Amino acid sequence: MTAHNIPETLSEMAVAVLTTPNAKEKCALSRACAAQWFAARAAGAAVPLGRAIPPDHPARPADPVLLDPRDVPKRKPGTPEGRIAILHAVAHIELNAVDLHWDIIARFSDMPMPMGFYDDWVKSADEESKHFNLLSECLEMMGSHYGALPAHAGMWRAAQDTATDFMGRLAVVPMVLEARGLDVTPSMIEIFKRPKEDGAAQAAVAALNVIYAEEVHHVAYGSKWFHFLCGRENMDPKDAFHTLVRRYFHGALKPPFNEEKRAEAGIPPDFYWPLSEK
Ligand SMILES: [Fe+2]
Ligand SMILES: [Fe+2]
Repeated sequence: MTAHNIPETLSEMAVAVLTTPNAKEKCALSRACAAQWFAARAAGAAVPLGRAIPPDHPARPADPVLLDPRDVPKRKPGTPEGRIAILHAVAHIELNAVDLHWDIIARFSDMPMPMGFYDDWVKSADEESKHFNLLSECLEMMGSHYGALPAHAGMWRAAQDTATDFMGRLAVVPMVLEARGLDVTPSMIEIFKRPKEDGAAQAAVAALNVIYAEEVHHVAYGSKWFHFLCGRENMDPKDAFHTLVRRYFHGALKPPFNEEKRAEAGIPPDFYWPLSEK
């Protein structure tokens, strides 16, 4: 999509990204929309929020084939195929995250929120698009590409479950799912550090380090706006979080938790430990 057919309102931008099936085109449009938004903000102007109805499901490419998580083949992480499978799975998560961030912008645009809320999610969507591009490049260096392997179906479930619950969306998506990313990324980075002479593996280390650093902010935005809404509704944030995660998230949270990065993102231990597996 060229610069001149970027929509004029933020909600329409979101819907345009959500309804673009090709992954690279989706990410390019996402980045172009974010650039437009921030250029207007820097100029002291604003892209109007507007109203547009997001689709129930975002458009996605024909490949990868989506399978039930139980049917996705397991591969050994110590092999080149295993490393490709890990990056492919993370690329799939990143593409889903692009759609999730644009979805929260369009879906809850009837909620009066400060402009900083939109800044945070546009920035997050832009970063997820960059993350997807980085991982796609690594996959291509490894002789593969996004779409070459089957991927998890059901990634959109959290969005569907919280389609009418704004606080539930913030609790489950950034504060549970993206926080989980902080827990698992360090050990993933170690896997790619091992093949030292492998340029593609080293590129993956660099990409995963960018992702790890930026994901802390996405979790922090979730926590910030969740606490903001609790304050506005005069609710206890911890109790509200527990209630909403129990309502919308299927299963217990899995330790070990990255307590340091979770703390940096504004999620204290008494938020997640009571929801964890015993
Ligand atoms: Fe990401
Ligand atoms: Fe993220």
